[in-house]
Amino acid sequence: AAESSPLADKLKSLSLTTPLPKYANCYPEANPVDIYRAHITSILTEVTGVDAAVIYPALQWTQTLEKGDLVLPIPALRVKGKKPDQLAAEWLEKFPESPLIHKPSTAGTFLQFFFKVEKLAQIIIPSILKQDKQFGQNPYLGLKDPTDESKGRKKILVEFSSPNIAKPFHAGHLRSTIIGGFLSNLYQAAGWDVVRINYLGDWGKQYGLLALGFEKYGNEEALKADPINHLFEIYVKISKDLAAEKEEIKKLEEAGKDASELKNEGVDEQARRYFKAMTENDTKAISQWARWREMSIKRYKETYARLNIHFDDYSGESQVKQEKMDETAIKLSEMKISEESEGAVIIDFSKHVPGKPGKSLERPIIRKKDGTALYLTRDISEMLQREEKYKFDQLIYVVASQQDLHLKQLFKIIELMGYKDLAKKVQHVNFGLVQGMSTRRGTVVFLDDILRDVGEKMHEVMQKNQAKYEQVQNPLATADILGISSVMVQDMSGKRINNYEFNMDAMTSFEGDTGPYLQYAHARLCSITRRAQLSSEDIATADLSLLTEPHAHNLIRVISQYPDVLQNTLKTLEPTTVLTYLFKMTHTLSSSYDHLRIVGSEKELMKARMALYDAARVVLNNGMRLLGLSPVERY
Ligand code: ARG
Repeated sequence: AAESSPLADKLKSLSLTTPLPKYANCYPEANPVDIYRAHITSILTEVTGVDAAVIYPALQWTQTLEKGDLVLPIPALRVKGKKPDQLAAEWLEKFPESPLIHKPSTAGTFLQFFFKVEKLAQIIIPSILKQDKQFGQNPYLGLKDPTDESKGRKKILVEFSSPNIAKPFHAGHLRSTIIGGFLSNLYQAAGWDVVRINYLGDWGKQYGLLALGFEKYGNEEALKADPINHLFEIYVKISKDLAAEKEEIKKLEEAGKDASELKNEGVDEQARRYFKAMTENDTKAISQWARWREMSIKRYKETYARLNIHFDDYSGESQVKQEKMDETAIKLSEMKISEESEGAVIIDFSKHVPGKPGKSLERPIIRKKDGTALYLTRDISEMLQREEKYKFDQLIYVVASQQDLHLKQLFKIIELMGYKDLAKKVQHVNFGLVQGMSTRRGTVVFLDDILRDVGEKMHEVMQKNQAKYEQVQNPLATADILGISSVMVQDMSGKRINNYEFNMDAMTSFEGDTGPYLQYAHARLCSITRRAQLSSEDIATADLSLLTEPHAHNLIRVISQYPDVLQNTLKTLEPTTVLTYLFKMTHTLSSSYDHLRIVGSEKELMKARMALYDAARVVLNNGMRLLGLSPVERY
């Protein structure tokens, strides 16, 4: 079958008559650069005598075109007895002519390979235009067995966003949402089965408190109109009452007076009782709570949709089954992992993990004196529930680095309980803080308010160019998208773990590596396509050998890297890996426009250049969508 595939035909036309040998992790149909990896590998096995299985994975992608299209660190081939430069000299001596690559050059201990761009253009541009929205995706990576599709795909659960009902959707939730949405897209593009889970904070005494607050301050109309804000307002008010009550009790006790009435009948005790009723499945308490939960989820969904995000499972702390927690508690105690301490149940890690790491995991409580479970307790059982429900291959928690300790404790407990395989499948993807995130109208932050603010700001920015502004069909909707892009790109610019300053002016600027700049680059490509008015027939028959300028060559080389970028991002799990690439690519693009004009060029040249720009647009569009952005066509 391989003989008659489009790829085989293509290789033939490139005068590579011998079919490419099969190598592990070589997927030329999805990643054209793998044709080069395979080609170089088969030459190098001849030249060096080293096993192909060692050579192939050592051929690395480069970030700077000056260093080559692929590089090989000579020491990676583990040839003993000779120095890298000696080896390089010997190999280069024997290196044959190739239709695909130039003779390699050496730099330090590296061999650098440069592709012959005339051939590369013929491989890459038609592949991009044909695969279009799929270009860069690699469905093979997620296969359980890459050689046998019928064995099915690997499954990954990505838990992210996870806000707390009746509390602000703060910057930590925003980052989790952006990064988690991106990771989900990434794994999907790599052919995994992705389950997006939102683990809501929707359980605990505070929801008993909220119910009391609703009795006192609630209003059905206000609830219906804006459940998220109304519940939050109530929560703030009743929390104040609670604080005042605590103050009062303290005063009474300090004065040696009797505080028992407040203690037994006050807000705190009532909230505790109410929550207790919830845990005992009291119909009225549960149905009220369930309704608020539903209303909140409905609102969250609207906001997530603006960010191109959906969830497959709205789980949450409330969804952890009591039986599961009882079972877990028994197991923890029987295995002597947990112990009693002053009426509560704790885990003293210093006893289970000898030395410093044990100490640093501290002594978390897993059951309070009154028998109630905690955040950590629920997370343990929730993970076991997920394992039963989904039988996943991997589970990622996208949670702020403030919770590093919590997740370390969780993972360690699972391991101590004997779930060794499970412990290997779970991973915490963490991130740093956002400083100074406040809205134009105040400091309490909800995602919607932030998005409204940046949208307004982008609208102001757009209006500064009236001529352009008038061309935009739906300026408010466009401003909204540009605003969202601003926030997201700023968030994804640095490494996840870095903190950053929320800076509205910087993120909404068209200057520098911002969201609006990326959108501008995309819109400009769309406008070139619109003005050129070439048919798809014109593009398909373009003579790509006319693309001879250095600018055209660089652009072709950059866009051919995109599938490798995606593959590399699976290792870094950093949105910035994709973003940095897209900025590099758009910079190459913007420096090309003056040299690769469309308007005024002769028809054949126009067709060839347009094919290249179309391919660049596809790559930019795919990269932006992978990040969760919505590319705009004009503004
Ligand atoms: N709701 C939590 C918070 O806002 C985040 C949940 C993180 N996920 C987890 N499985 N613990 O802090």
